[in-house]
Amino acid sequence: MRIFSGIQPTGSKHLGNYIGAIVQYVAGQERGEGIYCIVDLHATTVAYEPAELRVDSYDLAALLLAAGLDPKRCTFFRQSDVPEHAELAWMLASVTAYGDLQRMHQFKDKSARQRELVSAGLFTYPVLMAADVLAYRTDEVPVGDDQRQHIELMRDVAERFNGRFGEVFVVPEGRYPQVGARIMDLQEPDRKMSTTGGSEAGVVHVLDTPNEILKKFRSAVTDSGSDVRRATDKPGISNLIEILAATSGTPMEEIEQQFVDSGYGAFKTAVAEAVIDYLAPVRERYGELRRDEPGLELVLAEGAEKARAIAAETVADARRAMGLGPVRAHR
Ligand code: AMP
Ligand code: TRP
Repeated sequence: MRIFSGIQPTGSKHLGNYIGAIVQYVAGQERGEGIYCIVDLHATTVAYEPAELRVDSYDLAALLLAAGLDPKRCTFFRQSDVPEHAELAWMLASVTAYGDLQRMHQFKDKSARQRELVSAGLFTYPVLMAADVLAYRTDEVPVGDDQRQHIELMRDVAERFNGRFGEVFVVPEGRYPQVGARIMDLQEPDRKMSTTGGSEAGVVHVLDTPNEILKKFRSAVTDSGSDVRRATDKPGISNLIEILAATSGTPMEEIEQQFVDSGYGAFKTAVAEAVIDYLAPVRERYGELRRDEPGLELVLAEGAEKARAIAAETVADARRAMGLGPVRAHR
């Protein structure tokens, strides 16, 4: 089974990214053939600084390696190093419905936040994402809940291409974690934890110090009342229960029983401690990995070579099916 996912090199990664996505990438190395990509081309669709993008890509590469991606057991690379992604995106655009792109929540949210330019790249972002996944004939895509609409779109694109030009692509399935698919902001528990637009105190970064983590959980917004249980009118406490379940591996029902007599204060401290223990090994390994930029570059370059061998074959099949190039085009 082939597993693919992509992650943007923008800003510092937070607990939502970690629980919702990164942990599943690491687990995917055991379950199948994992292919993981730092999607730097996607990061160019909003205003950005070129020099920072390169640095952010190294930061993210070091973070993912620190989290447990092992280049010997998976394929780990940077999107722009494999030009087939961009080529395939153009080809897939011909079977993508304009109206579907207009309906994408992420486009609506992000375009509303742009001050200078709403780029065409932001609009066609989901087509490039479809190309990322389809180029590897991926079976499964581990992502957080916010990517459901993009996954549905890429399934439609794959089906429309196969219907129009012949069976070239595998129609992929999204894989969403059972616990932690949507981690919420600690200060505003009715919005998802996010790098863009979140309050600083409400977003726990993977590389935050133990003290910062403790402070953020202690000041997390909770609800009136004092019982530690999940309920729709208790978004703050429900989110904390989910975070504790994801980071400690304890089922949510058990957590509710365990904290039945303790107040919110003790509960929040317990969540903070679990998160601190959970992230500590990543933070420890990160420093050393990040310092070795040539080492990171080597890992990414080797990954790109492996990825390209697969993507080039799929794209050659897609070209042939679409009537592009000579009949027996071969590399
Ligand atoms: P991004 O940083 O936008 O590239 O997101 C990387 C991955 O993290 C994607 O699979 C997202 O679905 C996932 N993700 C982002 N925010 C959250 C969140 N608050 N809770 C769970 N997963 C998330
Ligand atoms: N759009 C995804 C996000 O915002 C990132 C992404 C790009 C991706 N290409 C992908 C995720 C391919 C899964 C598969 O998080």
